[in-house]
Amino acid sequence: MKRIAALSVAVAMMLAAGMIVPAQDVEEGKKVYTTLKCRLCHSIAGVGNKKSPLDGVGARLNEEEIRKWIKTPKEMKADTKMKAYPDISDRDLADLTAYMRSLK
Ligand code: HEC
Repeated sequence: MKRIAALSVAVAMMLAAGMIVPAQDVEEGKKVYTTLKCRLCHSIAGVGNKKSPLDGVGARLNEEEIRKWIKTPKEMKADTKMKAYPDISDRDLADLTAYMRSLK
């Protein structure tokens, strides 16, 4: 039992650090991306607005930076045109971030 608890803690820490991205979250994140219409300004693999492609964003930015870009983009760039999503739920933000992190 103890060993299982220790293992869950380790997995939780790796999840928090963005070291492992569960496929399920990525799939949910794709739905959030569609629902929030990110593609009006962004493209992924050539689909969407090619002005701001998000391809490779997971290799450029860490989890913390991606979360900020979505929730409080002005913390990343004061005069940014990026739309802020201050009311996004923690779950949606986590899934969306997982999806962004998978774009390498
Ligand atoms: C109104 C247009 C618009 C919408 C809608 C929008 N974005 Fe953005 N986003 C931008 C622009 C423009 C930038 C580039 C920021 C800059 O340089 O000012 C950006 C930057 C980003 C970045 C950082 C990219 C990088 O390469 O550094 C991420 C990540 C991002 N957006 C994710 C999203 C997600 C996820 C959504 C949907 C929830 C979304 N954006 C919706 C316009 C938008």
